[in-house]
Amino acid sequence: MRVVRRSEELRSLLDERRRKGLTVGLVPTMGALHAGHLSLVRRARHLSDVVVVSVFVNPRQFGEGEDFEHYPRDTEGDLELLRGERADIAFLPSVEDMYPAGATVRVTAGSIGDFYEGADRPGHFDGVCTVVTKLFNIVEPDLAVFGQKDAQQTAVLKRLVRDLDFGIDLVIGPIVRESDGLAISSRNVYLTTEQRNQALALSRSLELGRDAFARSTDAQLAEKAMLEYLQVADGIEVAYAAAVDPETFEAPRTEDRILLIVAGRVGNTRLIDNLVVDATDGGGG
Ligand code: PAJ
Repeated sequence: MRVVRRSEELRSLLDERRRKGLTVGLVPTMGALHAGHLSLVRRARHLSDVVVVSVFVNPRQFGEGEDFEHYPRDTEGDLELLRGERADIAFLPSVEDMYPAGATVRVTAGSIGDFYEGADRPGHFDGVCTVVTKLFNIVEPDLAVFGQKDAQQTAVLKRLVRDLDFGIDLVIGPIVRESDGLAISSRNVYLTTEQRNQALALSRSLELGRDAFARSTDAQLAEKAMLEYLQVADGIEVAYAAAVDPETFEAPRTEDRILLIVAGRVGNTRLIDNLVVDATDGGGG
């Protein structure tokens, strides 16, 4: 595996590979890699000849008072894991390389970036769109793999690709969970044992929402079931729990397929989770 820090070096390496007719798959990450990230790398490995994984803690997607400074970083551990997945190139740009002095132009997500995560984290999705645009321009991948864990990010990035005509296939990998249902996240390392148990209320609320929807096919009842459960759950300060349309994040348009989303703070750690529910999904399972 090649470890590349400069975008010019990456460009020339990839040009060489593309000239040989090889396809390129990109997996953007902020590092502190875990089983969720690695499932995406495996997917890219399966679908493309050259797998590029970027590891870059993007300052522009963190708001004031958020955890940019303290975000977990473990470059050596990450590289070890990427070698284990047979990634071809690890791209580790510096902040100065990605955002040289005077870099003022930004990509904005528009209205879809204003709800839910975007409302709680102003500017977050603009920062994500800007960095992903840069990565797309540097790597020029045939496909890029993202996780359903960040459902709204996925919806925003689908719009980015469509609205700005990136001819890139977006592949979305399912959420990887711990055996008890907790969605794996780089931020889980912040949790104490007690907080980790409290955090389980997020995935449980989604299951209750799913069951309520299976009984009623009523998105509002699904939402109510989630909120009622979370209101009495210990140790969680709920940011939102809602049933939305998976593409627009507005009110669900049909009863065939809804997306349940939840976010909350456990101690100082903000966690998110979601579940896609089809009307045909049985309850109780
Ligand atoms: P990061 O949080 O490191 O996540 C990188 C990718 O891994 C994202 O596509 C995310 O949805 C996916 N992921 C995280 N946890 C997962 C899980 N438990 N199961 C499956 N996939 C999971 O998302 C970002 O970084 C950044 O916003 C980024 C897109 C890299 C732009 O800076």
